[in-house]
Amino acid sequence: MSPFLLTRTLPEDATDAALRADVLHGLTRTPKTLPPKWFYDARGSELFEEITTLPEYYPTRAEREILHARAPEIAAATGARTLIELGSGSSEKTRLLLESAPDLTSYVPVDVSESALSGAAEGLLADHPGIDVHAIVADFTGGLSLPGTPGPRLVAFLGGTIGNLLPAERAAFLASVRGLLAPGDGLLLGTDLVKEESVLVRAYDDAAGVTAAFNKNVLTVMNRELGADFPPDAFDHVALWDPENEWIEMRLRARSRLTVKIPELDLVVHFDAGEEVRTEVSAKFRQDRVRSELSAARMELTHWWTDGADRFALSLAKAV
Ligand code: SAH
Ligand code: TRP
Repeated sequence: MSPFLLTRTLPEDATDAALRADVLHGLTRTPKTLPPKWFYDARGSELFEEITTLPEYYPTRAEREILHARAPEIAAATGARTLIELGSGSSEKTRLLLESAPDLTSYVPVDVSESALSGAAEGLLADHPGIDVHAIVADFTGGLSLPGTPGPRLVAFLGGTIGNLLPAERAAFLASVRGLLAPGDGLLLGTDLVKEESVLVRAYDDAAGVTAAFNKNVLTVMNRELGADFPPDAFDHVALWDPENEWIEMRLRARSRLTVKIPELDLVVHFDAGEEVRTEVSAKFRQDRVRSELSAARMELTHWWTDGADRFALSLAKAV
């Protein structure tokens, strides 16, 4: 039996301090914002998994199609012995890689959601007894310290999660990923692609209302963790396409004038009727931008694969 280790690099109180700082900063500025990592408590992780099965949410299926077709090629091109996955969630698509990479000895999933990591571990251990799984509860935008597993390393960042970072955050993030790699090591990056607005908007505003529930879950997290009294039903879920930035923006819009107390922060927050909080962006990419952002972080795009309908791309890059 291979060992399973779960390491928490963020103590619970550091998580609390970060949540407080983010909420205080985000809700006292105009326009109001909240960072997306706070969606993912146990309930949020569950809702995200439900999103991935919705008819409107094509990215998961498109990326799975690419991985299914290309996993052996990826394994051969990288020769990876350690796979590090950032924002691994359920690790469901990653299994396609694990199955096709004979040289792999170690899998290091990294996520802020401890429930997602432990949920994924059970099946992984049963199906891949020869691979060591070292799960890490950590924020991938902070400095990561990784176990000393054998190289070559492949870092995977799937699901289009890179699009949830703002451009400056993305540059800092890619530079920090490069810092984890030795020359010749690889980055496997999933990016959703620019496409027709109606298709994009539907993917983030589904008919069954699962994405709306996911978006509003951040209010529930603040109610539980900070003693706040956000009434989730007093907000509407909004998803819109910003053609200049080429990103989908998710917002929560107050239906009427409203005052919310956040006792743990000694804060009272006022909302005008119709006032919005930006909760997430999901940037969509073109090949040129992926190539140049990788190159700015000293990584060279070597492979670019898309699904049959050109909706989503998987890039393989090499640290130079
Ligand atoms: N890779 C999976 C999940 C994508 S959803 C897939 O492709 O389906 C984004 C994942 O990233 C969630 O599991 C969430 O908990 C995690 N996440 C979001 N922000 C994070 C951060 N700052 N640090 C670490 N994990 C984060
Ligand atoms: N990485 C996913 C994406 O941008 C996350 C996501 C999907 C998401 N649907 C969402 C985040 C709805 C917030 C709200 O596609």
